[in-house]
Amino acid sequence: MRISPQDGMGVTVEGFDSTSDNDVRALKEAVYRDKIVVLKGQDLDPRGFLALGARLGTPQAYYEPIYHHPEVKEVFVSSNVDDGERRVGVPKTGKFWHSDYQFMPRPFDITLIYPQVVPSKNRGTFFIDLCKAYENLDEDLKLAVKGTTAWHSVRRYFKIRPSDVYRPLSEIIAEVDAKTPPVALPTAHAHRHTDETILYLSEGFTQSITDADGREQPELLHELLAATGQTDTTFEHPAIHLQTFDKGDMLVWDNRSLVHRALHTASDEPSVSHRVTVYDGLEA
Ligand SMILES: [Fe+2]
Repeated sequence: MRISPQDGMGVTVEGFDSTSDNDVRALKEAVYRDKIVVLKGQDLDPRGFLALGARLGTPQAYYEPIYHHPEVKEVFVSSNVDDGERRVGVPKTGKFWHSDYQFMPRPFDITLIYPQVVPSKNRGTFFIDLCKAYENLDEDLKLAVKGTTAWHSVRRYFKIRPSDVYRPLSEIIAEVDAKTPPVALPTAHAHRHTDETILYLSEGFTQSITDADGREQPELLHELLAATGQTDTTFEHPAIHLQTFDKGDMLVWDNRSLVHRALHTASDEPSVSHRVTVYDGLEA
């Protein structure tokens, strides 16, 4: 396989063979070193896609079954296609800055996205590197982050399911809070595989930062989100990388180092994407 650097962030890989132990080892090294890997020319069915995920870690089925692929539950389906019969997957997923499963006690280590139906325009995903974001903070902000805790919750972006129709909103919110209570992590913490410091927060899922005495610090949260580029609505902040893709590309990324945000087509063009997410080592 041949690895070439991309502009801005990540690498492109040609000639990746998902059955080769050497290629899988080199892919994993590249994910942690380069953060985003684009595997060109992949041709895998959902089971083959899951099998590749399983070579990088332990695949996890999403906690909400409406996202599951009908035959392979560990494959998460994002789709705007509705043929009027049985809908598969969920439309408009992830159009906000986040890291996958950030609102769960353990976020995923690696995300694999495999676009199936690729629209002709406005396709891609924005990324920001949270390790670089920490490095680039000025010393005052680094000091302010020390000893603080970030709280993450799915509350603002939980999607109402077809089965929720006619249910009182208060009941749904209570259910979301009971099933997925906010989780706390140190705002800056070490990456379990690279030891870099991650400024782990997102505009979509981080609801607050508290100091060592438990007091909320809303200005600090806002300042940090702005410093990382996540409040820039023009997407021109130098830290923002737009990753585009073609049919046959598979995107593999370090989900703990990066926040991402889907760019959805504004047209009526169909768009379908499959995703597999894995835990790399289940020791914690
Ligand atoms: Fe995502």
